[in-house]
Amino acid sequence: MNSFQKHILVTGGAGFIGSHAVRALIDQGYSVTVLDNLSKGHLEAVHPQARFVKMDLSQQQDLLEFFQKEKFDAVMHFAGLIEVGLSMREPEKFFQTNVVYGVHLLEAMRAAGVKTIIFSSTAAVYGNPKIIPIKEDAELSQTNFYGQSKFFFENILRKYDEFYGFKFAALRYFNAAGADPSGEIGQDYEPSTHIVPRVLQYALGKIKDFKIYGDDFPTQDGTCIRDYIHVNDLVDAHLLALEYLLAGGASDIFNLGNGQGFSVQEVIETARKVTGLSLKVEIGPRREGDPALLVADSAKAKNILNWNPKLFRLEDIVGTAWKWHQTHPDGYASRPRVSARDTSQERKHEGLSQKNQHQIDQASVKRAET
Ligand SMILES: NC(=O)c1ccc[n+]([C@@H]2O[C@H](COP(=O)([O-])OP(=O)(O)OC[C@H]3O[C@@H](n4cnc5c(N)ncnc54)[C@H](O)[C@@H]3O)[C@@H](O)[C@H]2O)c1
Repeated sequence: MNSFQKHILVTGGAGFIGSHAVRALIDQGYSVTVLDNLSKGHLEAVHPQARFVKMDLSQQQDLLEFFQKEKFDAVMHFAGLIEVGLSMREPEKFFQTNVVYGVHLLEAMRAAGVKTIIFSSTAAVYGNPKIIPIKEDAELSQTNFYGQSKFFFENILRKYDEFYGFKFAALRYFNAAGADPSGEIGQDYEPSTHIVPRVLQYALGKIKDFKIYGDDFPTQDGTCIRDYIHVNDLVDAHLLALEYLLAGGASDIFNLGNGQGFSVQEVIETARKVTGLSLKVEIGPRREGDPALLVADSAKAKNILNWNPKLFRLEDIVGTAWKWHQTHPDGYASRPRVSARDTSQERKHEGLSQKNQHQIDQASVKRAET
């Protein structure tokens, strides 16, 4: 397999995990186009050697035309909504973005004869499993609409395989964290709800207080245990899944986690070590529905994809994230303020060289902001 001849579309490639995947694909010699509406993503996160197209997956006709013009070998589909709490307040947004717009993408792929897709699924499809570590064949019972929307899309992928011969890898991530060791790209969510960026923003004085939700769980130190997986290890699994599918591998589902849990206290302790700050934290009550322990069994990804996580120590995860936050205390320099539905820029840039496309899109985004 020669990656130099392959052109990969990365939806959501301006987001946290997508931007790291783009960087890895380019490092491996793939040609990459990023499609993102910049509703949550950041243009600055997109690798300068990637072509950037601002488009919203809601625009089915634009997507169909786009796929007719381009020649992609495969798609990595990261675009989606991710906030669990919001999914309980506004579930329709999750079914639209994570399910309906995903079908727009599949239909555009089908019309263009592109049948290989790597999908960002989640451990939230399992809900509160009874057996830990969690295997792919564990009982699925989602406790929020976010997890449910991902579960629905996994089932749609199964049907596209059955009916139309699609090949998919649905990768169920546990808690993605850390940042590229270069410190150039990292996690810039608004609002930030994940523990690693939150505790580091607290260390930087960007947030006023930090609360642990419950210290009376049946764990060694009483705080919840979660499986944190470094974003670059996640991304490695995407490239391996891509090679596996392009080499004729069968559609499959894989858990991606460290396989070793860390408690909330351990994360805070590591943040204290890494930052050199004492970081006083409050203890609050448990949040409803928080399980004590969620840890992945990722043996399947290791056996079938030959996946081998390298940055699995908590020091690696928190340390790389700290490098990013320290050098980018306010995240990426600019916030996405461009209309989510404006796909006109992509059409305007028809005929431009790939090298110039990204630069010109940056310029037009800046204009749109003023
Ligand atoms: N971060 C985690 O811990 C985690 C865990 C499990 C699964 N996932 C999944 O991984 C994927 C990437 O997550 P992330 O953490 O990088 O999130 P993110 O919000 O940083 O990235 C999502 C990207 O999708 C783009 N996007 C959203 N809606 C779009 C639309 N309609 N059209 C075009 N682009 C759109 C956003 O602008 C953003 O750049 C998501 O699908 C998420 O559900 C993430």
